[in-house]
Amino acid sequence: MNNRIPIILDADPGHDDAIAWVVANASDRLEILACTAVNGNCNAYKAAYNAQRVMALIGLDVPVARGRNCPLYRPSLSAPANIHGESGLDGPALPEPERELEKISAAELMARTLRNSREKVTIVATGPLTNVGELLLGYPELKEKIARISIMGGGIKYGNWTPAAEFNILIDPEAADIVFNSGIHVIMSGLDVTEQALVTPEDVEEIKQIGNPVSDIVWQWLEFFYRFHLSIGYKGAPMHDLCAVMALIHPEVFEMKDMHVEIETEGMYTDGKTIGDIYGITGKPANATCIMGVDRKKFIDLMIDYIRYYSEVH
Ligand code: BDR
Ligand code: CA
Repeated sequence: MNNRIPIILDADPGHDDAIAWVVANASDRLEILACTAVNGNCNAYKAAYNAQRVMALIGLDVPVARGRNCPLYRPSLSAPANIHGESGLDGPALPEPERELEKISAAELMARTLRNSREKVTIVATGPLTNVGELLLGYPELKEKIARISIMGGGIKYGNWTPAAEFNILIDPEAADIVFNSGIHVIMSGLDVTEQALVTPEDVEEIKQIGNPVSDIVWQWLEFFYRFHLSIGYKGAPMHDLCAVMALIHPEVFEMKDMHVEIETEGMYTDGKTIGDIYGITGKPANATCIMGVDRKKFIDLMIDYIRYYSEVH
């Protein structure tokens, strides 16, 4: 019997997205059915190419598709190059793609994957929620095939692109609004937890010692990624997107709280904010499990163990 959780990975890779995929692919508790790319850390064309190259690196051979290059109802915006570089995934040279892009959109690939799966599928979305929003708008009949949506996005307490909003939600608040109001349960790894999930320079030294073809890329990604974060005062690089994968396979390392979350789509100062009813004031039923804390040491040790997996398969 297959005890693995079937998942679709939707991302804008991105260093922390890529590391989330490295771990997801190494886990024997997950079965990756498809990958999709979205505009965010870079445009959707670069994101799809990065997705294909990461898949080649980790030996992941599943259908992959490019998604929308702009949010559902807003003009396009991507992260500046000082965070993830010009390519969206700067740093070490990566293998060229082995798997061609499907000739359908990301939302169509998600829909096909859901339709063909006998079990309900979990979507792990670590970029703006544009592709997932398009899926839910275009194929409402497939909602019942989605088990949960585990996202990196938002922050109950604060933002990182405005005082109120986190990047992934700010890029496409309408898509996030569709996701949170879809009736499908959301696991939200927001800044509350992801900024605690720090990889320090000492952790990078440990990864350097592993010496397999994937670890050799990962430590260079991490050096690239933490250089920016150290320059703005962080003590390491936040593994934002990895939290959305780890929440499925190692919930025990997190502190979680169920609550009702709404997305601000109009506020003058709060556009893109995730408003979590942390004290249950509204009486509305929880639509999300919000992750509020992590045992950093356990989280990083697990991440390093998953990276070691590639010593066995190569
Ligand atoms: C999010 O934005 C991106 O830079 C990261 O990949 C992560 O998904 C954090 O705000
Ligand atoms: Ca991301």
